[in-house]
Amino acid sequence: MPVRSLLAVLVLTLTGCAQPQPVATTDVTAPASERLVLPEDVHSYARPAEARVTDVALDLTADFAAKQLHGTATLTLDRAPDADEVVLDTRDLAIEQVTTPDGTPLTFTLGAADPFLGQPLTVTLPETGDRIVVHYRTSPEAAAVQWLSPDQTTGGTHPFVFTQGQAILTRTWMPTQDSPGIRQTYSAEVTVPTPLTAVMSAEMLTPEGEPAEDGTTYRFRMDEAIPPYLIALAIGDLDFREVGPRTGVWAEPSVVEAAAYELADMEAMIDAAEGLYGPYRWGRYDVLVLPPSFPFGGMENPRLTFATPTILAGDRSLVSLIAHELAHSWSGNLVTNATWADFWLNEGFTSYFENRIMEAVYGAEYARMLESLSRRDLAAEMADLPEADQHLFLDLDGRDPDDGMTAIAYDKGAAFLRTIEVAAGRERFDAFLRDYFDRHAFQPMTTERFLDHLDAELIRGDAALRARIQPEAWVYGPGLPDVAAPVVSEAFARVEAQAEAFLAGTAPESLETDAWTTHEWLHFLEVLPDGLSAEQLDALDAAFGLTETGNSEVLFAWLRTAIAHRYEPAFPALRDFLVRQGRRKFVLPLFQDLARTDWGRALAREIYREARPGYHAITAGSVDPVLGWEGG
Ligand code: BES
Ligand code: ZN
Repeated sequence: MPVRSLLAVLVLTLTGCAQPQPVATTDVTAPASERLVLPEDVHSYARPAEARVTDVALDLTADFAAKQLHGTATLTLDRAPDADEVVLDTRDLAIEQVTTPDGTPLTFTLGAADPFLGQPLTVTLPETGDRIVVHYRTSPEAAAVQWLSPDQTTGGTHPFVFTQGQAILTRTWMPTQDSPGIRQTYSAEVTVPTPLTAVMSAEMLTPEGEPAEDGTTYRFRMDEAIPPYLIALAIGDLDFREVGPRTGVWAEPSVVEAAAYELADMEAMIDAAEGLYGPYRWGRYDVLVLPPSFPFGGMENPRLTFATPTILAGDRSLVSLIAHELAHSWSGNLVTNATWADFWLNEGFTSYFENRIMEAVYGAEYARMLESLSRRDLAAEMADLPEADQHLFLDLDGRDPDDGMTAIAYDKGAAFLRTIEVAAGRERFDAFLRDYFDRHAFQPMTTERFLDHLDAELIRGDAALRARIQPEAWVYGPGLPDVAAPVVSEAFARVEAQAEAFLAGTAPESLETDAWTTHEWLHFLEVLPDGLSAEQLDALDAAFGLTETGNSEVLFAWLRTAIAHRYEPAFPALRDFLVRQGRRKFVLPLFQDLARTDWGRALAREIYREARPGYHAITAGSVDPVLGWEGG
């Protein structure tokens, strides 16, 4: 071999051993050879190859009376040499003016409005300069922003507001390029009425706030470039409790102690996650427990997960949700789905990773129960989905990206990764994933690039291994491929034996349930068949206090059983549950179950009339069509 090629081999080998480097950049000013070409995002108007937002600096005031955020967004841009305009995403924003930082007005136009995508804001750029200032205010109906009156909070005396950006709602509270592939750093100055506190998915520069003319100002800074759906803000009467050296909880004062107790294992979860996939790269990890109308279980806003209070069961049994949101600190926040068609890269990886964290912290038996519940959810939901929506990679052109928020992305995605793990062996797969996160940190990822990476770094031409995985069947085909790794939970097999005993006539008190955890109860309720008698339901309820349970997941499973059997003694609890919290995962199936029956539709509408004013637009938007709701 000539000396030169020998040297080249050496250099390649050496670079191969060194700390993996990012493979490409989205910086439009970088040389073309190093530039990562972003795939087209059908959910954004932005044209990032011409001019892309790299930083957002917000200066906002929260006006609770008007239900508006108003102020300025100063955007820093990467401009291609010939770019003379920048296109931003907006929806329901009132744009007052656009200027240069020194106040010179710039010409702008707002395009036609699409119900999901909103309106493109096209700004004519000055000859030189890389910053523009957009003066704007949000609409009281901004889909990302929920304004809560004091009586919608737990404390009942102060109002509250929070944002929820994913998937394409950030554009309803700030003008920016709202595409997950266009990463941006951000900073903010937020002025709120005293004595409220503002928190964000960023470093808090002024923990105490600073007195301002019209309230208190809080300043924040996020120095890592993040996708815009992760920019988040909440304002309310908030207290903080430390949980560990880099973890803590924020919540209303009356909730914060319970939250700190429930989430005591957060530090152990981070340690476990780091042991699996490398350092936690975001500094602090805090959780904000929101008022009960929060429409999701959790949202992985960096440094500050937003969570529903319905995880506060009192016995730490629902904290896998925190493991999930924490796992997004790698899968999602570090390596991000490039478009919403690649959503499974966020949620499938995260659901798999969540299970690994749970296994590391709470043991394999617990993790197998969670995995088994996930597979059942998948089977149930898949039965109702058209085949094209059963693919991991989705075609969402012309659709709301929320249509992709199904068990396919989460549970089929996780099953795919579990199958790779079993096929390749855990040790190899863990090394592969750790390297994947390091190499692609702070970058967008497409399904196709992941598949290429899987072939290049794990399968490496091993045809037998490839046959045990069958990547294309998972990603571009319907259903659960035959190669899917099976899930076995011995604990659940024991639960099934007890369910059978009950059905064969054993009294509930005589069943062996003493050592059951929340998940065994969930499995028990879910394997009970339809067609139970009122006496059987009475006996279960009397023995186990199901209608009275403070565990939201167990209550939800029980209420579904109650509806399936028209078990009226549980209906006051059903109404109460639907009115006092607005988590879509609970609310929507219960209304669907009721609406499917001839007797339940009127009851559903009556409960909905009472509950709907407390719901977030995301929850109400999902339930409205189920009940044919048009204003009541
Ligand atoms: N990122 C999601 C929530 C989300 C997805 C919001 C798509 C908007 C659009 C979050 O990580 C999540 O998956 N939350 C789940 C809980 C989790 C334990 C499965 C939820 O809220 O139910
Ligand atoms: Zn998630």
